Amino acid sequence: MVSVPVKAFPDLSAAPLAGKTVIDTCNYGPERDGHIPELDGKSLTSSELLQSYIRDAMLVKAFNNIFFKHLLSLARPAGAADRSYLPIAGDSAPAKAAVTEFIDSIGYSVLDAGSVADSWRQATGTPVWGPHTGRTRTRTANRPARTPSARH
Ligand SMILES: NC(=O)c1ccc[n+]([C@@H]2O[C@H](COP(=O)([O-])OP(=O)(O)OC[C@H]3O[C@@H](n4cnc5c(N)ncnc54)[C@H](OP(=O)(O)O)[C@@H]3O)[C@@H](O)[C@H]2O)c1
Repeated sequence: MVSVPVKAFPDLSAAPLAGKTVIDTCNYGPERDGHIPELDGKSLTSSELLQSYIRDAMLVKAFNNIFFKHLLSLARPAGAADRSYLPIAGDSAPAKAAVTEFIDSIGYSVLDAGSVADSWRQATGTPVWGPHTGRTRTRTANRPARTPSARH
């Protein structure tokens, strides 16, 4: 798992992460990270930027839209009517399968939100991120998906 301020990406060691599934929880915020032109201009997602530093890792963006205290309090067993869905984004199907299994094991269902390039859909300021502490309901084509909102 990489869970650091985005400004710390250049300091990460790539070698230990090579060939591994890596969960990226990170959110970009200029007030904390300083301005990063590619992210301000939206030519890259923060996950694509991270991937550029850890090229041989199989990155999956997850947990970035949930406040850490909610991660504990909103966990529910499989099948519970009020179980929350968390979005994930990544380019490796096996890595996404592994992360889905892990997230399910800690009390959440998963919504596949696409590729690393698609991860802007769950980035800071999007509806599933939500800078408030209530809950936000999102829907897929087939089923209701409950996504907790976050404050970070
Ligand atoms: N907090 C949340 O609920 C939450 C929820 C979703 C997403 N996020 C995102 O997850 C990321 C981490 O959030 P956080 O709240 O845990 O932040 P944080 O409290 O600032 O923790 C940052 C961690 O990154 C490490 N770090 C900082 N600079 C580093 C560097 N140059 N090289 C290596 N490690 C460095 C720190 O290590 P030291 O302790 O050794 O300094 C610390 O362990 C952020 O991008 C945030 O937006 C946070």
